Amino acid sequence: IPNNVKNIACIGAGYVGGPTMAVIAQKCPHIKVTVVDINEQRIADWNDTDLSKLPVYEPGLDQVVAEARGRNLFFSTDVESAIREAQMIFISVNTPTKTYGVGKGMAADLKYVELCARQIAEVATEDKIVVEKSTLPVRTAQSIRTILDASRSPHHPLSSSPLLPGSPSPDSSPAPRFSVLSNPEFLAEGTAVKDLHNPDRVLIGGEEDEDGQRAMEALVEVYANWVPRERILTTRIWSSELSKLTANAFLAQRISSINALSALCEKTGADVDEVAHAIGTDTRIGPKFLKSSVGFGGSCFQKDILNLVYLCRHFNLPEVADYWEQVVKLNDYQKHRFAKQIIDTLFNTVSGKKIAFLGWAFKKDTNDTRESAAIYVADELLQDHAEIHIYDPKVSKERIYADLEYLQEHRRENSSRNSDNSRNSHSCNSSQFVQLESSFIKDHVHIHDDPYNALENAHAIAILTEWDEFRSYDWLRIYEAMRKPAFVFDGRNILNKEELKEIGFNIKGIGKG
Ligand code: NAD
Ligand code: UGA
Repeated sequence: IPNNVKNIACIGAGYVGGPTMAVIAQKCPHIKVTVVDINEQRIADWNDTDLSKLPVYEPGLDQVVAEARGRNLFFSTDVESAIREAQMIFISVNTPTKTYGVGKGMAADLKYVELCARQIAEVATEDKIVVEKSTLPVRTAQSIRTILDASRSPHHPLSSSPLLPGSPSPDSSPAPRFSVLSNPEFLAEGTAVKDLHNPDRVLIGGEEDEDGQRAMEALVEVYANWVPRERILTTRIWSSELSKLTANAFLAQRISSINALSALCEKTGADVDEVAHAIGTDTRIGPKFLKSSVGFGGSCFQKDILNLVYLCRHFNLPEVADYWEQVVKLNDYQKHRFAKQIIDTLFNTVSGKKIAFLGWAFKKDTNDTRESAAIYVADELLQDHAEIHIYDPKVSKERIYADLEYLQEHRRENSSRNSDNSRNSHSCNSSQFVQLESSFIKDHVHIHDDPYNALENAHAIAILTEWDEFRSYDWLRIYEAMRKPAFVFDGRNILNKEELKEIGFNIKGIGKG
């Protein structure tokens, strides 16, 4: 097992693979880093000389890529060569929730990870360290190892057929050895570069045998180029895999907890921001991740909790499963509550009314919209025939339409297959929602490049993402251009309520009694 790594490959050039490898290359100029992907367009975008076209928008990422790309950072579609040349291979492919078959709607779909393991097994001719960077269910390393070890069996095609390209001749050196590590990623989108430069900790889990210990040491040496050693934690491999799911479950649970209380604040006259501040000053609770909102989004929190819930059910721990599932249910409730408040306030219908959305991304400073609360709120308002006008500084028109259509596709699948094992998310599966045709969506959803155009003549404004620029808009100009009464639903509590009230707005925040 190699211990002095000079050549790294990463399979998957997405939101994690791209920025993570760019930072490794930046901080380790002595290591060649090649990021590969089957998506040709994505690789072309990573190689674009115009850095504003990088496929992932992250503050500071363009500078990192500019520094390392072409020096020791490369993006390519040649997956096999990258695997062959590397001593250490990161798997950073997507692990979405399964949308079919066993575990549909709950379990992680590991088909992409499995494909990577099979490809490594087929292509490798020398010893490799294989690093799980994707978020995976506990004990996935065992499955990866089983696939890799099968390539060492005398019956494996590579070991027996000298006709296959790259295969060793029968009397050549022994089959390669593999060591599997778990190295989950904790970066958050929007702050990825900052998080990678200065992580709270780096977690590395390895197998307990000698090869496992050598492999862990090799990865520690990579990170030690810029991360203080006391922040590099090494654990058993199962603990590392489970810690990633646990970290996301705890983070999401804090948001659902404060969002649950936001509903009670609205009934009782308390202010959720004051409550969050009051409890957050207790050092045992801490102030972070207590911002009440329209609901958490992003590609991971929901998927990882459902994955955890599925694992608990698999191991016959229904009480534990129910406990964590409630975090997701509460989040669905929060998105629904926000949409319902808009309809209720606008005299029980938004039919034909112009509702302007400020923000579509799942949080500020990213162009990622996966599982964004905006998608579900828009869907509920469209069910009531609203005219939705959207402005987001970073999200493309095509992305917004694709998000809404993807949701409809899921609804179609769920209603055509009566599955008992899928999660009954009322945002996606409820019988009260009808299927919206693509033409209906195109007719009722309008996307703008200029926020003031989106807001003109609106009956109401809904803030879905906390982009900083929204605070500094000319709110008097907006008020004058809107229909009266002019409603604002601040799903992020970012606007100055008193100032807006003074202008004449009727403003509602989350958890503001
Ligand atoms: P992504 O969808 O942005 O990127 C995954 C990439 O893998 C895609 O470009 C896809 O084309 C590529 N891919 C899939 N199969 C492939 C194959 N066989 N060969 C080559 N390329 C292949 O996903 P992401 O957001 O980067 O997430 C990746 C993993 O990291 C997931 O498990 C996720 O849970 C985890 N994670 C994500 C974040 C985040 O902020 N997005 C943070 C921490 C962990
Ligand atoms: C989250 C975790 O923070 C990362 O540590 C983890 O690596 C990542 O998931 C992952 O595994 O994918 P991310 O989803 O990028 O990162 O962004 P967060 O900042 O966690 O925000 C998630 C959602 O929660 C956003 O919609 C955000 O607006 C919302 N949120 C966050 C709140 O509503 N309130 C808060 O106080 C914080």
